[in-house]
Amino acid sequence: MSRTNMQILLASRPTDGVQESNFCLVANELPSPGDGEIVVKNQYLSLDPYMRGRMNATKSYASLVALGEVMVGETVGIVVESQNPQFQVHDTVRGSLGWQQYAISDGSNLTKVMVTEHLPASVYLGAVGMPGVTAWVGLFEIGKPQSGETVVISAASGAVGSIAGQLAKSKGCRVVGIAGGKAKCDYVVDELGFDACIDYKAGNLVEELAQATPDGIDVYFENVGGEILEAVLGRVNTFARIPLCGLISRYSESQPVGLRNLTSLLFNRVTLQGFIVGDYADAWPAITRQLGQMITAGQLKYHETIAEGLEHAPAAFIGMLKGQNLGKQLVKLA
Ligand SMILES: NC(=O)c1ccc[n+]([C@@H]2O[C@H](COP(=O)([O-])OP(=O)(O)OC[C@H]3O[C@@H](n4cnc5c(N)ncnc54)[C@H](OP(=O)(O)O)[C@@H]3O)[C@@H](O)[C@H]2O)c1
Repeated sequence: MSRTNMQILLASRPTDGVQESNFCLVANELPSPGDGEIVVKNQYLSLDPYMRGRMNATKSYASLVALGEVMVGETVGIVVESQNPQFQVHDTVRGSLGWQQYAISDGSNLTKVMVTEHLPASVYLGAVGMPGVTAWVGLFEIGKPQSGETVVISAASGAVGSIAGQLAKSKGCRVVGIAGGKAKCDYVVDELGFDACIDYKAGNLVEELAQATPDGIDVYFENVGGEILEAVLGRVNTFARIPLCGLISRYSESQPVGLRNLTSLLFNRVTLQGFIVGDYADAWPAITRQLGQMITAGQLKYHETIAEGLEHAPAAFIGMLKGQNLGKQLVKLA
């Protein structure tokens, strides 16, 4: 069957902030699947901060996207043609199939997922996907929160932060979020059950953090970096743990910027550990199973911001980097 495949390619590398002109939308004829291959019709595309790094020409932990190549990204989709006995038409699969409507795969890079009443296909890109696993690994493998401790989470209303905070609450911690704007802070406290949330775009972050963490900070789940990290380092307790998950405030900077209060790490004997979720591939099945069970049991909430149509992916991606998303940013493709 002949199919037209709409794709978004990387057209140029950002010189400052990402622009829509860094991308281009093209239509290509989808080839027929070969022996052992399947055709996947992507339903949802995940937009994630790591994609910003892949647009640069600089060395990273993962390979960059070449100019003219389909933008990298995870999708969930439906198998619409199969020449591979391990996949049936109508199976739902998750994989890194890129910013495009269709993809041909030999199945080796795909995971079948089970869509249920409580677990729609989209959740496998968010709370039961890479962001959920990231929250789990960072919090439990590195943060190791104990009941009664104080946990602070930055980008608290986002895909990773919203899950990390709820997981910390489930361990009996006092959980304080940091997010941009009153609406996000209200959501984090009223809907997700955090004990407090500080709007870093209003007021005095250092003073409000001191008020919200009267017993200091034992675990800081770091998503942002910059002034927020410096404010937190002023409140950490001895032997605090900092899972260094992301530094989104720094991703568009061309020059490295220093950290002013590094001495706090020394004096407080703080453990700060960077991590990349892909290093925990063996743990994914068990973690996603538990996250799915928690959602099904009503113990874990999530929110999605969904842009409609592949052509709107660049604007939605730029918006997510600027904080226009609440929860997981997705694009609905079909
Ligand atoms: N290590 C890993 O393996 C791994 C895996 C996944 C994600 N991550 C990292 O985890 C972090 C969160 O990712 P996510 O997918 O959950 O994204 P997200 O939080 O859903 O969306 C990004 C959020 O970052 C915040 N932000 C953007 N610029 C900021 C700035 N200058 N200062 C403070 N906050 C800013 C915005 O929220 P506000 O409106 O609240 O500012 C925005 O909504 C990112 O740093 C990402 O790179 C790491």
